[in-house]
Amino acid sequence: MEQNEVTVQVPMNIALVKYWGKRDEQLILPLNDSISLTVDKLTAETTVRMIEGVGKNTVEINGKNVELSSNKRYQTVFDEALRLQRKRKELSDSNGNSTSISHYFQVISTTNFPVAAGLASSAAGFAAIALGIQRLLNLDDSQANRLARIGSGSACRSMFGGLVHWKKGEKEDGSDCVAVKTCDSNWPDLYCIILVFNDGRKKVGSSEGMRRTRETSTLLQHRIESIVPQRIDEIKKAYSSRNFENLAKVIMADSNQFHAVCLDTSPPIRYLNDASWHLIELVEKFNEEQGIRAAYTFDAGPNACVIVQKKDAKQFIDAVLKTIDIPEDDLKLAGEELSETFRPSEEA
Ligand code: DP6
Repeated sequence: MEQNEVTVQVPMNIALVKYWGKRDEQLILPLNDSISLTVDKLTAETTVRMIEGVGKNTVEINGKNVELSSNKRYQTVFDEALRLQRKRKELSDSNGNSTSISHYFQVISTTNFPVAAGLASSAAGFAAIALGIQRLLNLDDSQANRLARIGSGSACRSMFGGLVHWKKGEKEDGSDCVAVKTCDSNWPDLYCIILVFNDGRKKVGSSEGMRRTRETSTLLQHRIESIVPQRIDEIKKAYSSRNFENLAKVIMADSNQFHAVCLDTSPPIRYLNDASWHLIELVEKFNEEQGIRAAYTFDAGPNACVIVQKKDAKQFIDAVLKTIDIPEDDLKLAGEELSETFRPSEEA
């Protein structure tokens, strides 16, 4: 029995201009472009096995089995992988006869950050599965990008390091919907400080939230047409000219607008909690003192990601610990370098 196995390590990414809303839910094609930074040190180390024969696909994350019947995205990715494999076999079979051999997948993934914290862990996880399958089946980059994306949209941005631009594309088949590394030279001393705020509320999942926003928000269309394209350009410009102040302004404005769009949804979606708001106020105060030196951004949950330059990281962490009114047990801090050197080809 043939068994192929590969282990890869893939980092999470944090969106600076957010993806929110799909133009195609099946293929996971977004309504707007988005741009992210890859956070090198928060990774999912993942082993993917492709086993010949008839068997059940399994996915284990941090020692727990994932219930695949209620997480259909994994099956979609595995089905697509097998489709690509069959296609390749048919092409290489000069007689045109293809004998189809069954395969199934086993995935074992360990993240070095809490999955439940809503830290875009699915992005790193699906990107790792896609990269693993790419290696096993010798797929090209655009096929791997697509595999990651149909697992979770934001995952396709984790396939590269540094600043990554995910283009929404126009085509119905999604062939022009790709993530690309943008800006050749990275910014080595950007740090990402992640604050995990415990939150008892059951949050609205990204897919459900996006669907609701798309159906009910009037602000969303304005954001997509008139705001996002300009912000993507501003981020690229600020990043390539190392203009932290401009970068920070756009990051915070876009986080705020994303949450405004969620509130403009019916019924409204509230992801930020009191601790998130304390943090926003703290960053504003920190920035009033000596100019803009920190930028907060929040995804679909209350946890904060604060981007600072290395020189300001310690002072910012001290300010958080001094000011914020949260028991230390409820607050985890991690200063992590943002990706400068990550290349998916580097194996764990
Ligand atoms: C708020 O990629 O998790 O983090 O494509 O449905 O899996 P699906 O959604 P997902 O959404 C991420 C939304 C976000 C913003 C972002 O990362 O761009």
